[in-house]
Amino acid sequence: MRNELIPTQKPEIHIDVGGGTGEYLFNKAKENPDKTFVILDPFPNLSNNKNSTSKLKNLHTIIWKSDIDSHLPFLEGTISEASANFLMGELNTKEEASTTIEEDKQKYARLMRDIKNVLKKDGKIIIVDTKACINYIMEVLNEVGLKITSEPRPITLDEKEMSVWSAAFFDMNESTGKKTSSLLPMILEAIKE
Ligand SMILES: C[S@@+](CC[C@H](N)C(=O)[O-])C[C@H]1O[C@@H](n2cnc3c(N)ncnc32)[C@H](O)[C@@H]1O
Repeated sequence: MRNELIPTQKPEIHIDVGGGTGEYLFNKAKENPDKTFVILDPFPNLSNNKNSTSKLKNLHTIIWKSDIDSHLPFLEGTISEASANFLMGELNTKEEASTTIEEDKQKYARLMRDIKNVLKKDGKIIIVDTKACINYIMEVLNEVGLKITSEPRPITLDEKEMSVWSAAFFDMNESTGKKTSSLLPMILEAIKE
């Protein structure tokens, strides 16, 4: 009888790497109180998130930086879902600032390997980034062995507010007057097989 009171399943954990002000996970955490959400960033700043005035019990932040000697603080195969939005070319590390796309891709690949390691089998990664970066990202995913399950597509108007950066790039793309400039935010999904 007593055993029935002990939860038998660990909560699902979703992480947002380089999550910044945390809008992306804030909204998901609000809709899924039974799951645990963790934002990792060298400078996480939920107080800049206009939604975060009421703190959610299932949303956490960890100060963390992807680097040559720094791995995600989770056990192997424990994370159900990860997101990494607008990080290509944005990762600051101990190494000198990148001067080529190849250097950016190497830093990004290190992060993707790290994410792959902590994802469960069939765990999902969702990536949003600009059209200019998305082909490089697909090359990295292929290189590290994360299988693309949903080809990149432009985010919709309804999805624009998913993060500060998605809203900014969505508006910048609109302001070019072109339907699809290199600034257009694209979304793709991949899994760890
Ligand atoms: C372009 S912003 C994107 C923020 C957020 N993902 C969004 O969509 O609004 C890049 C984020 O990456 C974080 N960042 C920079 N270097 C990083 C690193 N080495 N590891 C993890 N995050 C990093 C920054 O602090 C910043 O919050």
